[in-house]
Amino acid sequence: MKKVAIYPGTFDPITNGHVDLIQRAGNIFDEVVVLVAADTKKKPMFTTEERSAMVSEAVDDYGDNVKVRVFHGLLVEEARRHSAYIIIRGLRAVSDFEYESQMALMNKRLDPRVETFFMISREEYSYISSSFVKEISSLGGDVSTMVPAGVALKLKKSV
Ligand code: COA
Repeated sequence: MKKVAIYPGTFDPITNGHVDLIQRAGNIFDEVVVLVAADTKKKPMFTTEERSAMVSEAVDDYGDNVKVRVFHGLLVEEARRHSAYIIIRGLRAVSDFEYESQMALMNKRLDPRVETFFMISREEYSYISSSFVKEISSLGGDVSTMVPAGVALKLKKSV
């Protein structure tokens, strides 16, 4: 049976840390569906369409087994729509663990078929976050080693 994993996030914007995880997951699973959350508690800097377009551009080279989709509502319902019950999440530091474990347990409670797989971020990306990238860029700092080239350009334009 085809092993399909979903990788959800806000991706506001996608960083090299996310891209690295998608690439590594693509080597493990038959298909990875990157799910860009349209409904988010965060107040995103970029629209859903912009976030999704940046993700698509960043993973363009990874072949047919990586897909990008926007989702609305509950993640477990989107998992059901794709018949994909493997959720991938990245862990950068111990501080991510509390939130991530709560989310994994809650998703499992909402649908027991769901399994969350955690992947440890590569060391060089372990302290990158979308918020840091936005803050640094807005203050004129260089984020070109932290995000895909298209994202760096878009951030520069929005200063
Ligand atoms: N490399 C770099 N940064 C990473 C990273 C990695 N490997 N993994 C996570 N991050 C960072 C992100 O940049 C982001 O930083 P920010 O907080 O400064 O913006 C943060 O860690 C987490 O972002 P992201 O990976 O995009 O996930 P998220 O926490 O924003 O996404 C959803 C959460 C969308 C998966 C979750 O809210 C959801 O499922 N929503 C749907 C509604 C639902 O089902 N709710 C019930 C959930 S139990």
